[in-house]
Amino acid sequence: MINVLFVCLGNICRSPLAEGIFSHKIKERGIENLFNVDSCGTSQYHIGEQPDPRTVANAKENGIILDHEARQFSKVDFKAFDYILAMDKANYDVIERHDQNQHYTDKFYLMRDFDPDFKGEDVPDPYFGGEAGFQHVFEIVDRSVDSFLEFLIKEHDIKESGAN
Ligand code: 4NP
Repeated sequence: MINVLFVCLGNICRSPLAEGIFSHKIKERGIENLFNVDSCGTSQYHIGEQPDPRTVANAKENGIILDHEARQFSKVDFKAFDYILAMDKANYDVIERHDQNQHYTDKFYLMRDFDPDFKGEDVPDPYFGGEAGFQHVFEIVDRSVDSFLEFLIKEHDIKESGAN
């Protein structure tokens, strides 16, 4: 099992979107049984909430159904997950600080490390912006997740079943 965790601040916009897109793509490829996928936030702000209605509506327009209950990142996630992808540098830094003995650094990534267009930058936070921001974020996360999945397929020598 390959355990993948997407992390943002509130766990109601960017990381549940990344989780939803990733889950959709592995199902399309018939490889969903190989993965455990989850998302969380570094803050407590929205614990227990479903994703932001604007994120849900935008994802739906793009063919992705989101269903996730927000939860906060915890240290047990270091052991439970193999790939921990932060949506931005600020949240990456929070995760890094929790890993006081630097045992798990090899598991940490920035989502946009995998963005073929703009490497290493933040996925912008759409929470305080306008509707246009949500489609912009969708496109960034979609292409970053695509290339992350290609990376995993090579790294783990995954053979696609061709279910779709
Ligand atoms: P997210 O967006 O980190 O992508 O889920 C945010 C959601 C809520 C807040 C900030 C960012 N907030 O400040 O409540």
